Amino acid sequence: MSAPYYRDDLVTLYHGDCLEETAWLAADVLVMDPPYGMGYESNFNRIKGTQKVGRPVAGDKTIDARDRSLIAWGDRPALVFGRWDVARPAATRHRLIWDKGNSVGMGDLSMPWGHAEEEIYVLGKGFIGKRESNVIRAQMLMSGDHARPDHPTPKPIGLMEVLISKCPAGVVADPFAGSGSTLIAARNLGRQAIGVELEERYCEIIAKRLSQQAFDFEAIA
Ligand SMILES: C[S@@+](CC[C@H](N)C(=O)[O-])C[C@H]1O[C@@H](n2cnc3c(N)ncnc32)[C@H](O)[C@@H]1O
Repeated sequence: MSAPYYRDDLVTLYHGDCLEETAWLAADVLVMDPPYGMGYESNFNRIKGTQKVGRPVAGDKTIDARDRSLIAWGDRPALVFGRWDVARPAATRHRLIWDKGNSVGMGDLSMPWGHAEEEIYVLGKGFIGKRESNVIRAQMLMSGDHARPDHPTPKPIGLMEVLISKCPAGVVADPFAGSGSTLIAARNLGRQAIGVELEERYCEIIAKRLSQQAFDFEAIA
């Protein structure tokens, strides 16, 4: 196992391939937003036929990384992001909807409807808390928003906090950490978290966000 890229009292981040860097498997609950298997290249691309330079998400051409991670994780509790047009994990027990608020996303521009939601699959047992709607509204971070990290698919920290608050106790794993929203949300809730991210530029963003948040917190306290 390699040395962590970042570590604080609650969060440990590894830079690498989560199929090889397997420290996350020691966690208690999995909250993951894997490549979706749709060749995602961010909404900078193909805007009304104009080819612009985009940023592909690593491993996004297939759902192989998702399925291999889930096999390694076994039947323990997991929340897994996905899309309606990609096969959901076989062991799915429930489906949550992230209502992205005032946003219709990109997708198929020949259609007069965009996508204002994403799906989150619930696997395994032990989820806790008050019984509430399976539709969770959280405003998506729009491009141009100064709070949006430089990553193609950052999730709102508030959304991740709502999800993690219903997870069984213990350490949270996010093997596809991206811009680090899951790790930040876990830490905000006082929970330990282990993340892995393949691309070093995103590890840098995560470390910066976590360090900045700790700084802000100390400045307020
Ligand atoms: C959909 S994004 C996650 C976004 C994240 N939830 C957020 O809020 O920023 C998936 C991330 O997984 C990373 N990734 C892809 N394959 C990976 C692998 N085998 N191991 C670790 N990370 C991987 C990509 O670089 C990308 O940043």
